[in-house]
Amino acid sequence: MDVKTDFLIIGSGVAGLTFALKVAELGSVALVTKKGLWDSNTTQAQGGIASVFDQLDSFDLHIRDTLAAGDGLCNRDVAEMVVKNGPARIRDLINLGVQFNIKKKTQPNDKSLNLDLGREGGHSHKRIVHAQDMTGMEIAKVLVDHVNNHDRIAVFEDHIAIDLITISKRMKRRLITTTHEDYCCGAYVLDRNTNQVKTFCAQITLLATGGAGKVYLYTSNPDIATGDGISMAYRAGATVANLEFVQFHPTCLYHADAKNFLISEALRGEGGVLIDSAGNPFMHQYDPQKDLACRDIVARAIDTELKKSGDDSVFLDISHKDSEFVKTRFPNLYEKCLTFGFDMTAEPLPVVPAAHYMCGGVATDMFGRTDLNRLYVTGETACTGLHGANRLASNSLIEALVYANKAAVQAAKDIQTIDESSIPDPPPWDDVGTTDSDEHIMVAHNWDEIRRCMWNYVGIVRSDKRLERAKRRIEIIQKEIHQYYWDFRVSSDLVELRNIATVAELIIKCARHRKESRGLHYNIAYPNRDDQRWQKDTIIRRPFVG
Ligand code: SIN
Repeated sequence: MDVKTDFLIIGSGVAGLTFALKVAELGSVALVTKKGLWDSNTTQAQGGIASVFDQLDSFDLHIRDTLAAGDGLCNRDVAEMVVKNGPARIRDLINLGVQFNIKKKTQPNDKSLNLDLGREGGHSHKRIVHAQDMTGMEIAKVLVDHVNNHDRIAVFEDHIAIDLITISKRMKRRLITTTHEDYCCGAYVLDRNTNQVKTFCAQITLLATGGAGKVYLYTSNPDIATGDGISMAYRAGATVANLEFVQFHPTCLYHADAKNFLISEALRGEGGVLIDSAGNPFMHQYDPQKDLACRDIVARAIDTELKKSGDDSVFLDISHKDSEFVKTRFPNLYEKCLTFGFDMTAEPLPVVPAAHYMCGGVATDMFGRTDLNRLYVTGETACTGLHGANRLASNSLIEALVYANKAAVQAAKDIQTIDESSIPDPPPWDDVGTTDSDEHIMVAHNWDEIRRCMWNYVGIVRSDKRLERAKRRIEIIQKEIHQYYWDFRVSSDLVELRNIATVAELIIKCARHRKESRGLHYNIAYPNRDDQRWQKDTIIRRPFVG
């Protein structure tokens, strides 16, 4: 065994970093991340963290907005727990050194936090705590600094996890069978610099690998978002849920070189308006909340407008606001848009929807535990029940913070019950008989095919026929990958390819199963919500392979 640790954490976004800092008080921590500590969805988060701080706001209202966005599928207990724990978790961040925007104090002795609160779609009140338009970066900066300076946390950058290691009574190499007695005891991890596969053995493992936007051709996500955690947990036998609910962010910059750069919803919160190419606003035709309707509604409205007009994009206009205000409130967006030739203080920005957030994931209980013993999951990788069929804007960072904290407290208790001497040494990774591949073109081609197939057939608007076609295509690709995976020495590209293929398969499976339209899942064959038959989660578990 190469690394033995009390806690193994896979992923370095806000969920992984927060959990690491908490459990490091109790034991040794190995934090594995496939690129640098900075490479995460968290660092890209612009808008902010939804939480109740305004005098006129209340927990009840935040819960109500969360449930309304979730379109009948949120777990109310979870929503209550997350919303009520939110302010305390934000105070934790402030105590660690995170600097959020604050309003000017009106009273010299004012002891309140006086946070400047933004507004986003689906929120009935201003409640978005933010650090200008780079909230995730500000949080990550502070957390990464603390993690780097903690002597009980060993960081392994450029290490990509391949598979979880599970122990079962029917112990096998690279186990794929799971029973209620099975447990996770770490992971096989590829060191990308040396190409060596290492065995990480842990009493408790946390998956916090973020989302899977790269399953789609167009996504706001960074390149690392390949669904590694969902895919590994599924292969190891944990239950996954609600993967049909893929959130498309309505407004990503439409520009050949912009790689779907996100234009934060906070822009609409400050008065930005969606218009068509003739300059006409259109959101009033789709929802009484107009531009601040929930994301599923706005993304579908844009999709409809583009299909009607044949245009390549719609436009987001904030040029009517004071230009100094726009530059101060959105310094990063302003600068970035300028590099693509757009001055947002003077002209509308061309925007299109792109895949943004997985509302489903690995099913967890209220403490971040999965149904595979000793495996915890937090952040976008998890399906906690908070988001239901559609996530309310800026509810993801708060979910990650609250659950990382809860999971750490629970893990601290659970680890006391583990008899370390009972954990057998897992066998080392076996690559006997494999050779280095000289067919990189095949990996690149399959990547592209999966992402195009998902964009064309499993996108914002779905149909039975398109889903069936997607299923057939992905099955063929899966077969090729499987053969390739076992015949050649494992590489980082291949690990990610296998993971996006698995997540694509699971999204299609969940989407084909749900015979209604709800939240982010819209199927033209069943255009209505059907509470009688479908007000329930879509649950998938790997079939027993004995
Ligand atoms: C945004 O800033 O629009 C993204 C925030 C989120 O996804 O919650």
